[in-house]
Amino acid sequence: MTDSQRQYDLVVWGATGVAGSLVAEYLTNRYTPEELSLALGGRNRDRLDAVEAELVEQADDWDEVPTVIADATEPDTLRAMAEQTRVICTTVGPYTRYGTPLVDACIAAGTDYCDLTGEVNWVREIIDRCHEDAVESKTRIVHSCGFDSVPADIGTLLVQSYAQEEFGAACETVRIYPEQSSGGVSGGTLASFGELFAAVSNDPLAKQTLQNPYSLAPPGERSGVDPGTHPLPRNDRLHSSWTSPSPMAPVNERIVRRSNAVLGYPWGREFRCTERIPTGSGFGGAARATLIAGGLGVFTAAMSIDPVRNGIQRYVFPDPGDGPSEEQIENGYFTVRLLGRGTARDGPFTVEAEFGADRDPGYGATARMLGEAGVCLVRGEVESPLSGGVVTPASGIGLPLADRLRDAGFTATVETATRTE
Ligand SMILES: NC(=O)c1ccc[n+]([C@@H]2O[C@H](COP(=O)([O-])OP(=O)(O)OC[C@H]3O[C@@H](n4cnc5c(N)ncnc54)[C@H](OP(=O)(O)O)[C@@H]3O)[C@@H](O)[C@H]2O)c1
Repeated sequence: MTDSQRQYDLVVWGATGVAGSLVAEYLTNRYTPEELSLALGGRNRDRLDAVEAELVEQADDWDEVPTVIADATEPDTLRAMAEQTRVICTTVGPYTRYGTPLVDACIAAGTDYCDLTGEVNWVREIIDRCHEDAVESKTRIVHSCGFDSVPADIGTLLVQSYAQEEFGAACETVRIYPEQSSGGVSGGTLASFGELFAAVSNDPLAKQTLQNPYSLAPPGERSGVDPGTHPLPRNDRLHSSWTSPSPMAPVNERIVRRSNAVLGYPWGREFRCTERIPTGSGFGGAARATLIAGGLGVFTAAMSIDPVRNGIQRYVFPDPGDGPSEEQIENGYFTVRLLGRGTARDGPFTVEAEFGADRDPGYGATARMLGEAGVCLVRGEVESPLSGGVVTPASGIGLPLADRLRDAGFTATVETATRTE
């Protein structure tokens, strides 16, 4: 099917949910119908019409936004949706539960795809099941285009591109530090989190995926020099700060390692990547790192026990569909710092980059990241040697996503680069 036969540029599937409605709101405020032929996707006609009515009310340029009904449990509807559009941005999660039939439909229809998943067990399943078919059909299946894992993945690409251009060598190590953030969390995200823990408790492959730092690399390449997440506080000399483990590290580090692998190891096979939360120097920093590491350990242990996890999901987590307040989204922010260290012919060097936004990371900023990833795919603004496959933001789209996000108000810059002795 040629692109000119498709009715839409982009469908936001899951537009009735918390994240999907924010993506649709962002896109209708940012682009006119002449600039982007957009449709809203969902399973329920009434809910979809209500979202459309709200969008039309608040977006000056849109008199109507077309809608498409598609249900994850009805593959024919997914196939019909995929055939009508060039690109699908999906926020229908948990992806382990609902995601696979849409990936199949997109590959069959040659429709590019991007999502917000942080469910690494599911990403691994999709890699093993769909990568070869996606390569063959030249379809880009781009996972993790939200706060997981655009700042880490595109941030690492920024650092490495700069290092290669300026010093003629890639960094051997890139460390990712989520320095500050403020925002909320939705029931849908917590349901996906619960799904990941349930899979790890009950499915040996999911458990193995979380144990192996290279589990998202191509088959046959699932080993390397990185030892994986260190569960205790650590004094980090590169950042001059104590650090604790980061809850997002299991996703972000694996996505970054996959970027390096599917791009053919431009950063070397010895490339190391670690995400840690910096907590400051001295006694205070050590105490904060200990508290976070301890809290994370207790939470992980609790979520790993089936009845405890079920209780937390039932009585503590908000329901799917509930999300952060408008105030939390508007007043939120985040900054992720990336420090790279490498050795060129003239000696060692460091590169420092910052990735951030003045929106809450998981929703306001994530809506922009996913929306702009979709627009890059629609416009063919892609800097990647790969024309298809199960890929990551850095390997499937690359630096054009950073350009678009800067235009949307993000910071995505290399701050300093120095030769060191
Ligand atoms: N990586 C990140 O930074 C990030 C940030 C935010 C969210 N997320 C992820 O994004 C996903 C969505 O989160 P959310 O908070 O938006 O969740 P949500 O509010 O619960 O929305 C889920 C959406 O999926 C739809 N849906 C459910 N079952 C369906 C089916 N059988 N067929 C078609 N559509 C179906 C729902 O439609 P109805 O309205 O009809 O029920 C709704 O539109 C989660 O997996 C979450 O983890 C990731």
